Amino acid sequence: MERLQKVIANSGFCSRRKAEEFIKEGKVKVNGKVITELGTKVEYSDDIMVNNTHITKEEQKVYYLLNKPRGVISTTSDDKNRKSIVDLINTDKRIYPIGRLDYDTTGLIILTNDGELANILMHPKNECSKTYVAKLEGILSKEDILAIKKGIVIDNRKVDIVNFKVRKKDMLKNTTLVEITINEGRNHIVKRLFSSLKHEVIKLTRTSYSFLTLDGLKSGDYRNLSIKEVKKLYSLKK
Ligand code: URA
Repeated sequence: MERLQKVIANSGFCSRRKAEEFIKEGKVKVNGKVITELGTKVEYSDDIMVNNTHITKEEQKVYYLLNKPRGVISTTSDDKNRKSIVDLINTDKRIYPIGRLDYDTTGLIILTNDGELANILMHPKNECSKTYVAKLEGILSKEDILAIKKGIVIDNRKVDIVNFKVRKKDMLKNTTLVEITINEGRNHIVKRLFSSLKHEVIKLTRTSYSFLTLDGLKSGDYRNLSIKEVKKLYSLKK
């Protein structure tokens, strides 16, 4: 439910102040009935007329950047009834994540109700890069690194790797910390890539999504994207 003047303003019909005037003047009908009380709550599905003209309503678009914690799923529902990332965001809009992160993966994920933007960001031709930091079981060999640089094929398709760095080799713990930037969003792609080299991913975090980073966001925290950021994401469309 949303305030009537806000729904009218969001439709682009007029400003919110003008909408308030129309309401007070008795020029607004909701489902055929004149409404003169400011702030009356309406549904986006209600039939709204201003000056005998139907307004075309669109639900306000919202965009959140979440630092996903471990142990929550990134689909909106789950047959095992596990907690979903959508439950972490305080909104009455029907939002969904753009792409997925595994249950045990942490880091940056965008949630929205803007299907158009979701399509743009998920379409491979728009090459939206994602950077992950992964802790691997074992020490990556020179041959492994060479293989990554040459290109790894998963399910008959080369993984589109943009950048790869070894950050740390921990000989005592027998682990390697790597940073990898890829231009694709196939399911479990980072885990599958390293598993093809016989290195299990023990820990995985997405640290950036295109130009967006986790700066200032603790695990479980989220923030709204700015209009400028949303426009910049739209501009990734080729
Ligand atoms: N690749 C994976 O293997 N898991 C994720 O959650 C994201 C990318």
